[in-house]
Amino acid sequence: MRRKLAAGNWKMNGTRAALSEIAAMAEAAKGAAEVLICPPATLIAEAAGANTGVAIGGQDCHAEAKGAHTGDLSADMLKDAGASHVILGHSERREDHDEHDDHVRAKTRAAWEAGLVVVLCCGETLAEREAQNTLDIIGGQLAGSIPDGATGHNLVVAYEPIWAIGTGKVPTTDQIGEVHDFIRARLEKRFGEGVGRSVRLLYGGSVKPANATEIFAVSNVDGALVGGASLKAADFVPIIEALNASA
Ligand code: PGA
Repeated sequence: MRRKLAAGNWKMNGTRAALSEIAAMAEAAKGAAEVLICPPATLIAEAAGANTGVAIGGQDCHAEAKGAHTGDLSADMLKDAGASHVILGHSERREDHDEHDDHVRAKTRAAWEAGLVVVLCCGETLAEREAQNTLDIIGGQLAGSIPDGATGHNLVVAYEPIWAIGTGKVPTTDQIGEVHDFIRARLEKRFGEGVGRSVRLLYGGSVKPANATEIFAVSNVDGALVGGASLKAADFVPIIEALNASA
C-alpha cells in the first residue's frame, strides 16, 4: 500500500512569520495522508523543531557532501537541520540553474546517502506536449535523473507539466492518468514490480482546493506537489482533507 502524500513547495516564499501556517496544518496532518512542507532553507530547522507532525523538506541540495561551494547546502546539512525529504529536479531549478538530468541524478545519490527521501520532479513544456513528445520527454527524464537503487522508501516522483505550474492551467484527468500510468510502468520495468508499485507518484501544477478531489481520483495519483496553494493553511488544509478522503 502506498501512503498518500500532500507535499507543499514554498519556493522562495516565507519568513519566520509563516511558520504559523505550518502549525495550522498540524490537525489535518493527523489523517491518513502524510503531509510535507518544503519551506525556504532558512526555516527548516525551526519548522522541524516545532514537531507539528508535518514533515519538513528542502527544495534542493548539492551533489557533494561538503566543500568550496558558496551558497550551496549539502544533503547532510538539510538532514541535520531536521529535513526528512528534499525536492530535486524541479523545473525552476532545471531552468534557473541549468540543472540537467545528470545533476539531478548525482544530487539524488547524495540525498539518499544522507538518508533523505527524494521528491524527484519531471515534466514537459507546452511545446513538447503540443508536438506529442510528452511520454518521450518524461521517459528520458526518469531514465536520466533516477539513479539505481530506488525504493518506495527513498523515492517519490512528481509529474509537473511545466505549462501547468503557477498558471492555473491543469491537464485533463485523462492526460494526468496517461502520464502517471506511464511513469508507473517505467518504474516497474526498471526496478521490478515490487519497487515500481511502491513508489508514490504525485501530480503537481496548479493544484487547488477546487480541483484536488478530481485529481486525486485519477489512477496512479498518490498525492500532490503544491506550490501557491500550500503557502496558507486555509488553502492547503482542504487539499490535505481531499487526499485523506480519497485514501
Ligand atoms: P503551483 O506550483 O502549485 O503553484 O502551480 C507547483 C510546483 O511548482 O511544485
